[in-house]
Amino acid sequence: ENKHLIAPSILAADFSNLQKDIAMVNESEADWFHIDIMDGVFVPNISFGFPVMQAIAKYAVKPLDVHLMIVDPDRYLQTCKDSGASIITVHYEACTHLHRTLSAIRELGCQAGVAINPHTSVQLLKDVIQDIDVVCIMSVNPGFGGQKFIKNTYAKIKELRALAAGVNDRLLIEVDGGVTTDNAGELIQAGADVLVAGSFVFNASEPATMVKQLKNVSYP
Ligand code: DX5
Ligand code: ZN
Repeated sequence: ENKHLIAPSILAADFSNLQKDIAMVNESEADWFHIDIMDGVFVPNISFGFPVMQAIAKYAVKPLDVHLMIVDPDRYLQTCKDSGASIITVHYEACTHLHRTLSAIRELGCQAGVAINPHTSVQLLKDVIQDIDVVCIMSVNPGFGGQKFIKNTYAKIKELRALAAGVNDRLLIEVDGGVTTDNAGELIQAGADVLVAGSFVFNASEPATMVKQLKNVSYP
């Protein structure tokens, strides 16, 4: 029985008809909405901001998993919570005082996530592992949807699970970037708990069917 979660990334949705895609996610087997916020500084792209997220929150009936690809995220944590976030994920590479930032997220009543870029070792999370609810392992360089999956991700998932063992056994490991039914089974087998998928879901003619396939993917 599959226990992993699916988080469709709204970055790949139809921005001219968001309500339709929100309804699709609501009615599908998806578990969370993945919301990618980019500032054009931390990553070389700008997506959408909190007003759009508030509009999504108005219709979403599942938790909003917010991936902040921005510098100095501390400045926006309160706004992010007020805009409807359940999970707030900041980038390791953007936080000088990561422990303080994670504490601030939890004090707001949200789950605290840390995303790591492909070049960032999971070992760097060792001293904050008990303070994290979700680690988002980037399996592409953040900034754009539709990129090619980086295979080193499997090894990082296993290494992170070993690092967290006995210290934070409730840690959720999320994988973000290039996820399809071609790699989903192996990702779950390696220890992933949450699969983010953007273009694989929304570029399909039947997005809800793609969500169903990811949710029910087989693995040994
Ligand atoms: C990339 C974003 C991802 C992106 C994934 O910077 O963090 O969430 O939407 O898109 P796909 O699934 O198309 O790689
Ligand atoms: Zn993301």
